[in-house]
Amino acid sequence: GSYEHILTSTPKPGVGLITLNRPKALNALCSPLFVELNEALSKYDNDKSIGAIIITGSEKAFAAGADIKEMAPLSFSAAYSDNFIAPWSHLANTIRTPVIAAVSGYALGGGCELAMMCDILYCTETATFGQPEIKLGTIPGAGGSQRLTRAVGKSKAMELILTGKNFSGKEAAEWGVAAKAVAGGHEELLEQAFKTAETIASYSRVAVVAGKEVVNKSQELSLKEGVEYERRLFHALFGSKDQKIGMTAFAEKKKAEWSHE
Ligand code: HXC
Repeated sequence: GSYEHILTSTPKPGVGLITLNRPKALNALCSPLFVELNEALSKYDNDKSIGAIIITGSEKAFAAGADIKEMAPLSFSAAYSDNFIAPWSHLANTIRTPVIAAVSGYALGGGCELAMMCDILYCTETATFGQPEIKLGTIPGAGGSQRLTRAVGKSKAMELILTGKNFSGKEAAEWGVAAKAVAGGHEELLEQAFKTAETIASYSRVAVVAGKEVVNKSQELSLKEGVEYERRLFHALFGSKDQKIGMTAFAEKKKAEWSHE
């Protein structure tokens, strides 16, 4: 696609790559960037050949936050009536294809929140995360207070959000914010992200969408409701072609050729 603030490409079969590309502002997430990001996400999500999406930035910055210069003059009434930041929910609310964040460098404020919105977060050990909004006289506004707290628990989230202190990629992995902190630089990180994305893209799309849906439900429902929800969807998958294909292939010692139906 031809975008101003992002790059899109499919260097590996089944994997859509979105690279945030606003280097002069360390990938600060201005509103026009989010319009493009949402369009690119939807395009991949609607593309039957794409089974996983990676969002990354540069070696120096995944994203240094929402665009502070854009936000500075905003009034309450303008923010409220235009529902400022609402487009940021598109990824979490609408996209069904698994999205992997590959974070090198800064992931601050809205950058940290965008990374945490993704289904799987990989980072370099030296990545720099943080919710520094308190230093700007405000608070996280794209889910940071909720997602960080679910990941690290109340006391640590409170400490991070009220002090604005950064934390490293290594800490992000130790605390469960990230699934993995990769030793090495941006290239090693992307290698790992692609490996995982290709693995996911090699499975039945129907099963993958269901897997993502049930894990996400665990964040909203009680354990009993969540387990029931999972069982309903597990039962439903006996109606998919790919459940028959997968289990028959196992019994016949063959490789499953998914129909994605
Ligand atoms: C707008 C930004 C920016 C941001 C960096 N830039 N972050 N512009 N919004 N969030 C711009 C700088 O103004 C500068 O532009 C250029 O990018 C390079 O940045 P420097 O500061 O010169 O780089 P460096 O000295 O390497 O410092 C890197 C940094 C610092 C430590 C990451 O840029 C920084 O502290 N950025 C702000 C981090 C932050 O507070 N993020 C949270 C934002 S609030 P010029 O034109 O001078 O070259 C937020 C709210 C979310 O995200 C809630 C709703 C989603």
